[in-house]
Amino acid sequence: MDNYDFTKQPSLLIQGAMDTETAYLIEHLEEHVCITIGNWKFHTGFLGTKREAVIISKTFQGIVNAAAATSLALAYFKPWAVINQGIGGGHDKKFHRGDIVLGEKVIPMGAVAYAFSKEGAGIDAKGFSPLPVEIFCRETGKTKKVTEYPCDIRLLQVAEQVETKYHTGRGVIGSGDEWNSQIDRIALLRERYHTVVEDMESAATAQLCLSYGVPFLGVRILSNSIVNAEKFDEAVGIDGQKFILSLVEQMREYM
Ligand code: 5AD
Repeated sequence: MDNYDFTKQPSLLIQGAMDTETAYLIEHLEEHVCITIGNWKFHTGFLGTKREAVIISKTFQGIVNAAAATSLALAYFKPWAVINQGIGGGHDKKFHRGDIVLGEKVIPMGAVAYAFSKEGAGIDAKGFSPLPVEIFCRETGKTKKVTEYPCDIRLLQVAEQVETKYHTGRGVIGSGDEWNSQIDRIALLRERYHTVVEDMESAATAQLCLSYGVPFLGVRILSNSIVNAEKFDEAVGIDGQKFILSLVEQMREYM
């Protein structure tokens, strides 16, 4: 496969923000070639017994970093789909640390418009509504405004069929540059958006995939759950990658 051209031939882009979300997958790459674009590294190679062409991308944390890494990858490579995966914080008591949420959709929970209130009225943390985000849609050549980003239903169904020892379930991912620890705010997010887990990257990737018309899937393994009093352990990111490896291995049976 020496002559496989990742800039012209299809590959699966798999992102994680940190080493604990990417190093295991990078170690398992065959014919690993690292390409640096700007401040980001993209690890091309082949994964699993089916030798799936993949690009592993460490985006760094947060929305802007994830957006930059995604934008570079979508322009430079030819991913047929993008999986944004890694650790996240639980919102739903049914999911515990180490459980995996397969994204139904992603809510950009930081995109909010606050209602007016007069000087001295105090700060109303509940007085917001979703602020629609402008998307340039490559297919139509026009912009549109959206308040949520879809996950690809076929990829989601494939992920659901993966034989794994991990507890997996579908759910809505809330994403933004925020770390929520107020139980009442988490309850409000659940009431309004039905979030099951939160992270700080997937909204960026999902937004750009919607813009470019590239299938997207978000996958999050819980590293902490304040609603279940389960403290942060980033090491679960390795289990998240093991699940992704199984997904890559079994994907072709179902697609
Ligand atoms: N809230 C937000 N992001 C979280 N992450 C893990 N837990 C949480 C949480 N409770 C993820 C983010 C970021 C890093 C801190 O881990 O996506 O990359």
